[in-house]
Amino acid sequence: MGVKFKTLPRAFIWRRLHSLFGLWIVIFLIEHLLTNSQAALLIGQNGEGFIRAVNFIKNLPYLPVIEIVLLGVPFLLHMVWGIGVLMSSKMNSLPTQENLPTLTKFPRNHAYSLQRITSWILLVGILAHVGFMRFYMYPVVVDQGQKEDFFVRITIDSGLYTVADRLGVKLYDQEAVDSLRRHIESEAPEMEGVTRDAKRIQEGSTSEYSASVSHLLSRYQNWEDQKAYLEGMEYRTLSPGEVIAEAPDFGTATLLIVRDAFKSVFTAILYTIFVLAAVFHGFNGLWTFMISWGIVLKMRSQSMAVNVCVGLMLLVGFLGLASIWGTYFINLRN
Ligand code: HEM
Repeated sequence: MGVKFKTLPRAFIWRRLHSLFGLWIVIFLIEHLLTNSQAALLIGQNGEGFIRAVNFIKNLPYLPVIEIVLLGVPFLLHMVWGIGVLMSSKMNSLPTQENLPTLTKFPRNHAYSLQRITSWILLVGILAHVGFMRFYMYPVVVDQGQKEDFFVRITIDSGLYTVADRLGVKLYDQEAVDSLRRHIESEAPEMEGVTRDAKRIQEGSTSEYSASVSHLLSRYQNWEDQKAYLEGMEYRTLSPGEVIAEAPDFGTATLLIVRDAFKSVFTAILYTIFVLAAVFHGFNGLWTFMISWGIVLKMRSQSMAVNVCVGLMLLVGFLGLASIWGTYFINLRN
């Protein structure tokens, strides 16, 4: 006689789901930090590995669906249920707490507390990180038919022009943006007629083909492309000391954002705390996951699992810190 599904308490099912989503996020964390480490570790090869990996992800079919279903939903559910767990749990591994029996001598009790402290750090960190990287800094894409342009806003530094040259990136300051706008505006009256004629041809009211029709259509296309390009450039307003970079692909645009973010020692320190919290929480969590799902039952296999989890924690932590500090020091060297 098996256990009937409907007899399982709802809280039990949620707990299992929370735990499964946690495991899924660990897999994502490994992939994410492995990709990011290439930004710094392979910078000597113009960040090729990072650019390739980011472009591969960006070109996956149905990416928005993947982002929502495979990342957004698991993160959200793990976080929402996690807050519930945090509110109902009490830490007692610190000697200073009043009204609670303190149990300072058990390493697992400290790990329990740290799992909860890192949850709060990650909650704030993940929301800030996603808001910053996925929305605020995210490249603006301008689709020009045969090719796409990727625009990002970054701050100027002494090494930027060399890096841009190596990566095939064009840089525009406010002066250059204004000059393109003035050029487009000056051509506008003449292009009104061209646009009208081109639309008539496209709608089929003129069927004959001639060199002049072809010339007119290509002028019209060129004009539309220039306007779209300007829109991409002006999407984000520039402050003094900032430029707009136009990158040939999404991966290169992202590499520029990473380089820009980790120029600041303040950002680098914040991200260090974030990465350390993530790897502790993730791999301590992996260990508790294996226990609570009955994957490691015997004492011997549980302590072997500790070694595996600590090993992974150090390795993935190294990859994360390499992404941050490698990029920081490479920026300083330029
Ligand atoms: C990098 C992001 C994260 C990863 C990789 C991750 C991963 C994990 C894993 C693998 C577990 C263990 C599940 C188990 O014991 O069966 C876990 C537990 C937990 N997570 Fe996360 N998590 C992340 C973010 C968060 C956030 C933002 C919160 C807070 C809102 C949170 C709250 C919790 C809590 C409270 C537990 C303990 C559950 C328990 O002991 O029953 N996690 N996490």
